[in-house]
Amino acid sequence: MDAEHTGDEREMETGKDGKVISRKTLLRAAVMAAPISLLVPQIPALARNMAPGQPLEPTPYCSDGDPPTLAQTEGPYFKPNSPQRSTLPGSGTALVVTGYVFNRACQPVANALLDFWQADNNGNYDNYGFTFRGHQFTNAQGQYRLVTIVPGLYPGRTRHIHVKVQAPGRPILTTQLYFPGEPRNSTDTIYNPRLLMTMSTSGGQRQGTYDFVLNIAGQPTSSPTNTPTNSPTGGPTGGPTTWAAGTAYSAGATVTYNGTSYRCLQSHTALPGWEPPNVPALWARA
Ligand SMILES: [Fe+2]
Repeated sequence: MDAEHTGDEREMETGKDGKVISRKTLLRAAVMAAPISLLVPQIPALARNMAPGQPLEPTPYCSDGDPPTLAQTEGPYFKPNSPQRSTLPGSGTALVVTGYVFNRACQPVANALLDFWQADNNGNYDNYGFTFRGHQFTNAQGQYRLVTIVPGLYPGRTRHIHVKVQAPGRPILTTQLYFPGEPRNSTDTIYNPRLLMTMSTSGGQRQGTYDFVLNIAGQPTSSPTNTPTNSPTGGPTGGPTTWAAGTAYSAGATVTYNGTSYRCLQSHTALPGWEPPNVPALWARA
């Protein structure tokens, strides 16, 4: 059992009158004293719905007890080398989690790595195999989709799903996703309401939605006059193609954009706002 899994509701504290009172009692007292408005579950707004042009708050980091090396052989820990898959098979209440990965400028991050791991229906982690562990990459629109089950509860924690999120070549965000309305959300010291999923139920299947915001700056956005007017043409082995967001370009590749030819300087997957005239670090006039 690691540090994050040893939260103890029975932790004792001493009150003003010298009586020993439990942490749970303190929390209950705090809840009783709180204004009604503070008792309503605060579901964070999805990043995609924030006001355009307003910088986004990065998704908070959430410790999971891992050492920096990530090397662990036992305990309910993250395990490296999970299989690449977006469906984590197993019995339980079906759950689909979807959302986007954005940068702080609300631009989608393509090819971002998301590595999920969670407890099974009985609250146990598979520390020998890779049950309920898997990684995937966002698509060209920055979207991910995880097909799994609702994780079971285990002592000391509220219901949660672990995840590591990383844009290509950027630092790893380690965090957790939570479920609204869980009784233990008020007693779990790791829990953060900013990490609550938006939940719904359809056809007996739970559906969660969460948009991650990585702490990386956005790229300049293009002006309307820079909007490509042509559809991508040609093939990967053909001549220059028209620049298009979502396309993976290798260093040396050539494209045309608004009638001008450009040569790719660094391999990357193009995003909206990364039009060749806007990002001289990626494109030079051919
Ligand atoms: Fe956990």
